[in-house]
Amino acid sequence: MRKKIVVGNWKMNNGVAASEQLAADLLAALGSSFTGCDVGIAPTFLSLTTAGKVIAGSTIQLVAQNCHYENDGAYTGEVSAAMLKGAGCSSVIIGHSERRQFFGETNATVNLRVKKALAEGLDVILCVGETLAERESGVTGDIVSAQVREGLVGVSDISNVVIAYEPVWAIGTGKTATSAQAEEVHLMIRTLVTELYGEPAAQALRIQYGGSVKPSNAVELFAMPNIDGGLIGGASLNAADFVAIVQAAA
Ligand code: 13P
Repeated sequence: MRKKIVVGNWKMNNGVAASEQLAADLLAALGSSFTGCDVGIAPTFLSLTTAGKVIAGSTIQLVAQNCHYENDGAYTGEVSAAMLKGAGCSSVIIGHSERRQFFGETNATVNLRVKKALAEGLDVILCVGETLAERESGVTGDIVSAQVREGLVGVSDISNVVIAYEPVWAIGTGKTATSAQAEEVHLMIRTLVTELYGEPAAQALRIQYGGSVKPSNAVELFAMPNIDGGLIGGASLNAADFVAIVQAAA
């Protein structure tokens, strides 16, 4: 039985003070030793330290939204995996569709980041998902398979990897994939991972769904056999909504 995992991706929202407040509100609502499912929050780089202090010692995990694949050096605007680890992060989101769409991330750069993060002892949430045009032209399986395969090239052990399936057309649009649509892709991902890593690793792998998850649809999504939690954008900015989604996974 896989333990579900729910992570709030705050994206480019909440300054330092607002991040501190939201982290405190979540801690107050969930308590410091919540174990019903794994829970994480991903503030911006700027707010990681402050939010991390609030949740330190609790079971709520500190997650970063990206990391670079070099150790250090002349990479203006980037943050290394080791720096995130040092700041208290246990995990990092890599290959989010917004990084792919707006910041030129490719499966190859995603793969470099995945390998570096794992090497530095961070868990990885590897994001995959098709655009609307890709879905409508019937290539969802090809696109998502390539993202999984190429994102994991050279990764021999996936025990510290979570895959997040986030159909691009469902992100921030209010259009959720139906639980059946999501389950179909999650099952396809698990089948592919079975081919790549074998049955035990594939059965242990957690596959989150992301894209307009709300308290009103979380229960149904999380009830699907291959949906192991959620990566939550908009609804994670409201403490009550995020807590309701976490409770749906617990
Ligand atoms: P929304 O929940 O706002 O659709 O965002 C999903 C997402 O991109 C999480 O990473």
